[in-house]
Amino acid sequence: TVVVLDFGSQYTHLITRRVRQLGVCSVCLIGNAPLSTIASYAPSLIILSGGPHSVHEHGSPSLPPSFFDYTVEHSITVLGICYGLQLIVKVLGGHVKPALSQEYGRMEVQPVPGSALFGDGPLCTRLSVWMSHGDEAVELPNGFTVACKSMQGGIGAIENPSQHIYGLQFHPEVTHTLRGIEILKQILFNVCNIKADWKMQDVLEEQLKLIQSTIGPTEHAICALSGGVDSTVAATLVHKAIGERLHCVFVDNGLLRYKERERVMSTFEKELHLPVTCVDASEKFLSKLKGVTDPEEKRKMIGREFICTFDEFALKLERELGKKPSFLVQGTLYPDVIESCPPPGSGKGHSHTIKSHHNVGGLPKEMQLKLVEPLRWLFKDEVRKLGELMNVPVGFLKRHPFPGPGLAVRILGDVTQGDALEIIREVDEIFINSLKEAGLYDSIWQAFAVFLPVKTVGVQGDRRSHSNAVALRAITSEDGMTADWYQFDPKFLADVSAKVCNSVRGVNRIVYDITSKPPATVEWE
Ligand code: XMP
Repeated sequence: TVVVLDFGSQYTHLITRRVRQLGVCSVCLIGNAPLSTIASYAPSLIILSGGPHSVHEHGSPSLPPSFFDYTVEHSITVLGICYGLQLIVKVLGGHVKPALSQEYGRMEVQPVPGSALFGDGPLCTRLSVWMSHGDEAVELPNGFTVACKSMQGGIGAIENPSQHIYGLQFHPEVTHTLRGIEILKQILFNVCNIKADWKMQDVLEEQLKLIQSTIGPTEHAICALSGGVDSTVAATLVHKAIGERLHCVFVDNGLLRYKERERVMSTFEKELHLPVTCVDASEKFLSKLKGVTDPEEKRKMIGREFICTFDEFALKLERELGKKPSFLVQGTLYPDVIESCPPPGSGKGHSHTIKSHHNVGGLPKEMQLKLVEPLRWLFKDEVRKLGELMNVPVGFLKRHPFPGPGLAVRILGDVTQGDALEIIREVDEIFINSLKEAGLYDSIWQAFAVFLPVKTVGVQGDRRSHSNAVALRAITSEDGMTADWYQFDPKFLADVSAKVCNSVRGVNRIVYDITSKPPATVEWE
């Protein structure tokens, strides 16, 4: 296992991900993790991440006491990246000071011939790398040499091969460092001699065992399925592990997309053979939402209704089973988790008791369910791979995200106004189908239609019309936190617009949202 210690860099998770992409198990821990926690992973390599701090700042994050005694004694390789390099230098008695000229962005570095880090082979050439640091090492600790220099004469990398300690001042994990992957490969496979034997099939098998040992042989678990990738893969995995003792619920809140309930239920039942109870709570949700126009109030009301519905499901289940289910399955992913996670095969359980908050919107406290989060240490692309291994249909795995409050945040104002729900479903379906036909669906993070409570004048079939305007939104994004609007070929938008206005009654105008996030959010409410 490669342990990555996080000192706050925006790239830390990327390091973990790159290592896994190279077939090596990797786990990320908070920078001040105790030595005993680090040791429990039996690491071959410990990577110290970058971070926004300066090693001189009072209270800046550091390494646990005796860290290097431990790594040297056990011949564990240490690689510091950026702040990690500076930490190595400072802790081992070298000198770090604020750089005269701060180095940000793309730079060139030249490895020293014959260094242990870069060797004499293809990497011993001028390299284009990504730097972002304000401090620099000016005096190295005993036993260290410079392994590469920046063109400005600064230290680009350091090494102490006899103690297995290395440092890079640049970021090999970002794509801007052109040969970053090769550098990581060199470190993993040549410097550390690690084997690339981390496979999704092993992860699957290890997770199944782990779930079986966490959920006792007579205990039951419940799972709220949203129709999204994460909850579906998590439920499929747990179902494989404990079979019929998993009870899933899919809530139709009346705010779902066109034929969503039928489609999702059919996939669950026919393709995944998942036992799912479909609760039609649409009338309840919609009657509560009638007349509610404030976006936050809508969201809160939907959250409360969801909890009630889930609670009723759990009570019904308890009556049927004669006992309370004791576990709740959730599709939480790695990026949502800051603390440490057990890697596959570590034999550690992964359940803990819910207090009051969690990401399905807060369940009643008295339910006292223990959480099972089998995707807790996976990234989205890894979850998709795991889903593929379990035969979750690929089309399903590539679905765009859909917000919990559903179409309520895509109908501005009262959700129950006129034919808004029907209109928005039809327009959305036409838009999404057009994207699929044009082969654009997979290159877009999310696309949807928004109902505007605005009537505009049009001319349709030689007649004046006074109908609704609908907005289309399509974005690209890495994680939904920031987003760019998608630049379609105008012909594509013209075709969608014509199809919608010709076939959806009550719409005579289409507008396209050209706002990125920020300043806008992805959803309109
Ligand atoms: P915003 O509108 O906040 O959306 O820029 C960012 C991403 O989150 C989704 N989203 C939600 N997902 N429950 C969810 O499960 C919600 O309440 C919610 N609100 C927004 C949104 O679709 C986008 O992908």
